[in-house]
Amino acid sequence: MAQRTQVAIIGAGPAGLLLSQLLHVAGVDSIVLERRDQAYVESRIRAGVLEQGTVDLLERAGVADRLHAEGLPHNGFRLALDGELFRIDMRELTGGKSVTVYGQTEVTRDLIAAHQSRNAPLVFEAEDVSLHGLDGDALFVTYRRDGAEQRLDCDYVAGCDGFHGPSRAAIPAEVLRVYEREYPFGWLGILADVPPCDHELIYSNHARGFALASMRSPTRSRYYVQVPLDEKLADWPDERIWDELAIRLGEEAASRMTRGPSIEKSIAPLRSFVAEPMRHGRLFLAGDAAHIVPPTGAKGLNLAASDVAILAEALIRRYAHNSHEGLEGYSARALARVWKAERFSWWFTGLTHRFPDMDPFARRMQVAELSYIRDSAAAQRVVAENYVGLPLH
Ligand code: APR
Ligand code: PHB
Repeated sequence: MAQRTQVAIIGAGPAGLLLSQLLHVAGVDSIVLERRDQAYVESRIRAGVLEQGTVDLLERAGVADRLHAEGLPHNGFRLALDGELFRIDMRELTGGKSVTVYGQTEVTRDLIAAHQSRNAPLVFEAEDVSLHGLDGDALFVTYRRDGAEQRLDCDYVAGCDGFHGPSRAAIPAEVLRVYEREYPFGWLGILADVPPCDHELIYSNHARGFALASMRSPTRSRYYVQVPLDEKLADWPDERIWDELAIRLGEEAASRMTRGPSIEKSIAPLRSFVAEPMRHGRLFLAGDAAHIVPPTGAKGLNLAASDVAILAEALIRRYAHNSHEGLEGYSARALARVWKAERFSWWFTGLTHRFPDMDPFARRMQVAELSYIRDSAAAQRVVAENYVGLPLH
């Protein structure tokens, strides 16, 4: 059976769902094709820090009510060097900007609820999604649902299918350029229904390795410890995680840490990755399909949002004013912001983590740079303006 829409969106993560909702609000039709089922998509534990630009987009999409009710505004965060804490006053240093702590899981749930409240065509369990006619006149996507082959004719395809999706792979190898850095460690994350150890986040550089104290609400904490790449989750019972967090976050934070059973625990690798261009013909990549950042700078979700802001504006201009200018300029404009966030995420990861091959000089450079940031308002302003999110140009 053939269907038709203006924009076929592959992937129902934050990028695909937010794009679909923004297009709908502007009267542009789309259909979202998601490989997994709704329960899987809504259960993924991911990021938790929203830049103001992302909050603004969610408001424009009409899905920010719960975010405003439950999201936690954060005006600063703390850095720790071997247990010594100091604060980055983002609000002061950026002329009033802040971030909002609100789980990506919640953002996804709010976006799915908005789709379902308007009976939007959001297709879960769409198997073998394939792109056809990218270079020709008749662009279409095929997929299988409940065993039946489907065809979706469209004007454009938005590849929002994440790092392992088919969209990036649809760009010819001779056209695609990739840039990559794999890090020699991973993050072990734990979610627990205990009060956070502080009302703001703490990023800690410790001789034993990086640790992060974050949260999802006043009663739900999210913590991470850096672990070697080949680490096994089975070797990290909750008690060992709490003990390591207490050491790495330092005595002051540890004294306020509440322990409790993990409700989720996982190890994720860290990677920097960018694919260029983010457009090929009538295929546009957005979010993790085009780029990955180490989570240190909390940029993954926010970059997906800024890609979508640029792409939605371009598609809306195309349909409202038959102007192709935004579509022509999409890749360059999105990549300009992507690379700056890649740099900040890479730099912040290098500053706060223990690298296996780190010699004493490299360690001294980390200590000196953190001490410089502690003592310099100029250095802190650089950190703050990147963390709250650079402007969309
Ligand atoms: N067909 C259809 N859907 C697919 C396919 C496919 N072949 N492959 C992947 N998908 C779906 C995935 O199941 C997932 O739901 O695409 C979606 C991609 O979502 P994300 O990976 O969350 O990527 P994105 O929407 O760009 O959001 C980026 O998510 O991974 C985190 O840290 C990342 O916070 C960042 C955010
Ligand atoms: C989180 O709360 O999951 C989180 C917060 C900040 C980061 C990464 C993850 O930099």
